[in-house]
Formats: sequence, C-alpha cells, structure tokens
Amino acid sequence: MVALPVLQNRPAAAPQVQPRSVRLSLTDRCDLACIYCRPAGKEGYFEEKLDLEAWQTMVRGLVAAGVRRVRLTGGEPLLHREVVAVVRFLDTLGLDDVAVTTNATRLERLARPLRDAGLRRVNISLDSLDAERFARMTRGGRLDVVMRGIDAALEAGFDEIKLNAVIVRGENDTEVEALVRWSWERGIVPRLLEVMAIGEGANLKDRVVTASEMRARLAHLLESGDATREKDRGPAGYLYARHDNAKKVGFITGTSDTYCKGCDRLRVAADGTLRPCLATNDGISAASVARSGDSAGVALAVADAWTMKPDGESFKGCTETSAKDVSMRGIGG
Ligand code: GTP
Ligand code: 5AD
Repeated sequence: MVALPVLQNRPAAAPQVQPRSVRLSLTDRCDLACIYCRPAGKEGYFEEKLDLEAWQTMVRGLVAAGVRRVRLTGGEPLLHREVVAVVRFLDTLGLDDVAVTTNATRLERLARPLRDAGLRRVNISLDSLDAERFARMTRGGRLDVVMRGIDAALEAGFDEIKLNAVIVRGENDTEVEALVRWSWERGIVPRLLEVMAIGEGANLKDRVVTASEMRARLAHLLESGDATREKDRGPAGYLYARHDNAKKVGFITGTSDTYCKGCDRLRVAADGTLRPCLATNDGISAASVARSGDSAGVALAVADAWTMKPDGESFKGCTETSAKDVSMRGIGG
C-alpha cells in the first residue's frame, strides 16, 4: 500500500462515532469572494485535482468505510465541469442522501440536469436581497444571476431547498427578518449562520451576530423553546414559526455554541486529502490510492484519517486557534 503522509496528530475521536457523512470539495475554485470566506487578492489553487474516475474510486472507498450521505461542496462545486456526471454516479450507489451546497451562480442552467441526475437537496448561500450589498459581500457577485438560479432550482422540484445566510454586523444584520420571510414565501428553509473564525472569517470576530441575538430579532415570528437538531443532517438547530410548523428557521452557531460532539463528518479536498475536521488542517492524502483505482486503499486511508478526528469534547471546533489557518474555500465549509 502507498505510504500516507500524516500531517499532524490530534486526540482520537470517541470510538463509537463512525464516518457516515462526507463533504466532497469538487474544486477549490469559486467565482465569488465572500468577505467572510476568502481574501480579496489572488490565492493559490491546487495544482492537481482528482478527475471523475478518481472521484468514483474515492466514493466507493468512502462507502466501503461506512459513509451513507454525500454533499458536494467547493469552492463552488458547480464550476466543476463534471458535476452532473458525479451526481449521476452517486445516484447509482443507493446512498441515504445526495446534496449540494452552492452559490447558485450556475444553477439557472444546471438545476434541471442535476435534478435529473439524482440530486435530492440543495443548500444555497445568499446573504442579502439587496443587489448592492450582495455585490459588496461577495466582492462582485450579481444578485440577478443568483435569483434566476434559485428560480430554476424551485422549478426543478428538489426535495428540499435551504438558504444559508451568514450574518455580519454592520452589513446584512438588518436583513434577518427579510431573508426569513422571503424564504418562507418560496418554500425555502432559511438558515442564519454566525460568522465562524475560520480563514477570512477570523478577521470579522468583532462583527459576529450570535444566534441568540438573531433569535431575539425574530422572537415575534418564532415559537419559544430550544432549537432542535435534525437526525442525519448538519449542525443547524431549528425553531418553528408561531402556529405554523410547515415553516422553520435554522441557526448555525459555529461560534457561540459549537456542535462537535458526535460529529460523523469527514471532508475530502479537491486534491484528494481526507480531512477529519473543518477546524484543523490535519489530513491524509488518499489521492494516489484513488487515482490507482484502489477503493480498498481509500477505505484504509479513511480509517487512518478518522483516528485524527478531534474528540469533540475538549476541542472547541471553529473557535480553536487552528481554525484561522484553514482555507474555507479549500475545504468547502
Ligand atoms: P444539511 O444536511 O442540509 O443540514 O446541510 P449542512 O448544514 O450540513 O451543510 P451546508 O453546506 O449548508 O453548511 C452550512 C454551514 O454549516 C456552513 O457554514 C458549514 O461550514 C457549517 N458546517 C457544516 N458542517 C460543519 C461542521 O462539521 N463543523 C462546523 N463547525 N461547521 C459545519
Ligand atoms: N463563517 C460561517 N459560514 C461560512 N461560510 C463560509 N465561510 C464562513 C464563515 N467564515 C458558509 C457559506 C456557505 C457554507 C458552505 O459555508 O456561506 O453557505
């Protein structure tokens, strides 16, 4: 078997938690440059990325290691030329979930082909309904293009569409209620995210709006009580609309209240590195085993990578200092 470089070691994960969910970062490129995600200036990209065949081997190995849920991320995953083919392949595997997180700039053209290929759920990143603010927060993004992408996704009939809005004080914090109402009107589930001090987000520590503050602003719309997490889903805690349990709002509290305990996620970067935690740069390369078609070798690498997963109890997720050195664009959120 090919020797696998160990980049750094961490306390081992609780043994009963196994990797069940994976986020595949198909590409580290993105056509937007959100202020909390990546720097304004030029950055390096991976030189060698996995091709379709290597991704197929990678996924077979992940499934052999117990993974049941797959989310495609980036950078921006819809910039990957073969994203539809990747989804078509995933659809053949009988997985419990096949989803994507996208900025929607390419959804107008791709929503229908992705749905037809077997994509079930779409999470869309959108921080503002105001074209000027949107352009500022994304450093150049066009809101009209994104809106057309969202319309196409609504028409394609996905099982579920969610909105991710990262709330930045002094920027879009005045839009919390508008984003929620706008989503509800369209049957989209709004989620409000605290800025995490990961990568570029570390420069916005003084502009974090906590989930409890967002919740207070929405108190007139929401039931009281504890936000609840959903089985086999990500870290969001949900609260329902008053007298209407068909509507809910998700809160993602990566800064005020991390949710690492019981984490069953693994990430794969576009260069084939297996990454056991969003908040560290630790990882193991499975690129050569994936490229050589050795899915059993990938499964072994997954087991090795999993031993590097932080324990989720003493380790405080994206509030750890290691998080600021992570490239959000390169790991896919
Ligand atoms: P659902 O299955 O629809 O709940 O998806 P998700 O919320 O897991 O995925 P999405 O890509 O929409 O992520 C929303 C936010 O949650 C992003 O900011 C991610 O970085 C963050 N997130 C997802 N997984 C983790 C995690 O394991 N740890 C931390 N700290 N944040 C995460
Ligand atoms: N804090 C919180 N969320 C972030 N995202 C990217 N960077 C950050 C950050 N620093 C979100 C994006 C996208 C998801 C994948 O991660 O808005 O919705």
